[in-house]
Amino acid sequence: MRINYPSTRAINKQLDELIKKPIYSLSPEALRDYEEYYFEKKCSGSKAMIEKAKDRIPGGVQHNLAFNHPFPLVITKASGHELTDIDGNVYFDFLQAGGPTVLGSNPPEVREEVIKLLNDGGPSTGLFHEYEYKLADLIASRVPTVDQFRMLGSGTEACMAAIRVARLATKKKHILKMGGAYHGWSDQLAYGIRVPGSKFTQAHGVPWTMFRYVDEFMPGDLADLERKLRMKKLHGGVAAVMIEPIGPESGTWPIDQVFLKGVERLCKRYGALLIFDEVVTAFRISDRGASGLYGIDTDLTVFGKVIAGGYPGAGGLGGKKEYMKYLAAGIQSGDKVHKALIGGTMAATPISCVAGYHTIKRIIETDACEYAGKMGNRLTDGLKTLVKQYNLPFVVWNEGSVCHLETVGTMHFVVDWKHPWTIPGVLKETSVRKKEMEYMGAAYTAEGLITLAGSRLYTSAAYNEDLIDEALNRFERVFKKVVKKA
Ligand SMILES: Cc1ncc(COP(=O)(O)O)c(C=O)c1O
Repeated sequence: MRINYPSTRAINKQLDELIKKPIYSLSPEALRDYEEYYFEKKCSGSKAMIEKAKDRIPGGVQHNLAFNHPFPLVITKASGHELTDIDGNVYFDFLQAGGPTVLGSNPPEVREEVIKLLNDGGPSTGLFHEYEYKLADLIASRVPTVDQFRMLGSGTEACMAAIRVARLATKKKHILKMGGAYHGWSDQLAYGIRVPGSKFTQAHGVPWTMFRYVDEFMPGDLADLERKLRMKKLHGGVAAVMIEPIGPESGTWPIDQVFLKGVERLCKRYGALLIFDEVVTAFRISDRGASGLYGIDTDLTVFGKVIAGGYPGAGGLGGKKEYMKYLAAGIQSGDKVHKALIGGTMAATPISCVAGYHTIKRIIETDACEYAGKMGNRLTDGLKTLVKQYNLPFVVWNEGSVCHLETVGTMHFVVDWKHPWTIPGVLKETSVRKKEMEYMGAAYTAEGLITLAGSRLYTSAAYNEDLIDEALNRFERVFKKVVKKA
């Protein structure tokens, strides 16, 4: 398959234009109709359950991927490409649990192996299980930049481990991350989240001192990265540059391979480790990881999501032996180095490892990344046609099975500290646009389409061309109700 490599320059230009244009979104009448005739009439079971849950759970839901307008849905069944809610409504699943289910939901090939494991030995013992080795071996034999793999409880934990290792290995302290990127919710990495340049402004509850050694650079901007590397060199140097290989927020701000090569070069020049956060991309856009696909020589790779196939305990750090030796636990090698303390009672449980191993094995055997990517291409091409047909300013692109449908460009704003008086304006504009994105998401839901935050769509190997075409018909029903708002 030809993955639809987006021309990042063209897409970023379209996004630059999108955020200057008036907002095009669902008309107020259409929103009201969806609320009244769909959510109120057909989702009463969800509504009642969430009302009760609000009493016991802050915000009524446990998960930040839940849709909130007008209220979250309660899902009772998931299979292949479909989700079913408590009221029996059936949806196309383009959320895919936030990314892990490249094979579709609950594939029997994985489930049966998990059940076998549960029947034999239960979910966890705290001692070694053969699948720990099998999963590590499979990942290391597939991803060219990974010699060794350590499984952890989540992507957040794996990002924390990665920067700890980088600091030990380089004896430097500073970490540079790309503005806008999400590397989990740990204290130090809660910096420059969503909006590039936003620094600590979204890190409520985290003391500023936590960011003494963390900084961000502008997405796709090699000159800015080099400037920061040079500056930090005067203050002890950069331990690691951390990036999502398709751009911040799963490529919401797309970057290209020339940029990736440039980052690789700069890391070598300044003695910083290159960390790819492949929580989304590994075993989704390629079963060799984005580093394997693009031929980038990374030092450490952060894994998550697909490596446990939608089962709990989805996190891990992989990399070159010379760096992985800085992780504590296990048989001590002859190396006399200080090691990073990492842990997790429920990290690398047999259940995560068996699910991850059989998910990845099946992905490789069936070429699922490629197939899901083809479905992504079809969905994206269809959406582009609709956008043109209805004369909308929306921007659509994909990298394989990671598809973007930007209606308002919320994440294309930048906070520029050279003009601090503009900051409140930028933050207000992004929150207004985010609300409109939620309304669009509610409309998609009412048409039977579950998306990620109304702007991202993951395809899986459980789709086929007819299903994608049917989904496109439903998107069209929403697009027909879009008006210019302001
Ligand atoms: C790129 C990236 N890194 C890290 C994380 C954090 O992973 P987790 O949610 O498993 O903690 C995410 C989660 O969405 C992510 O997308």
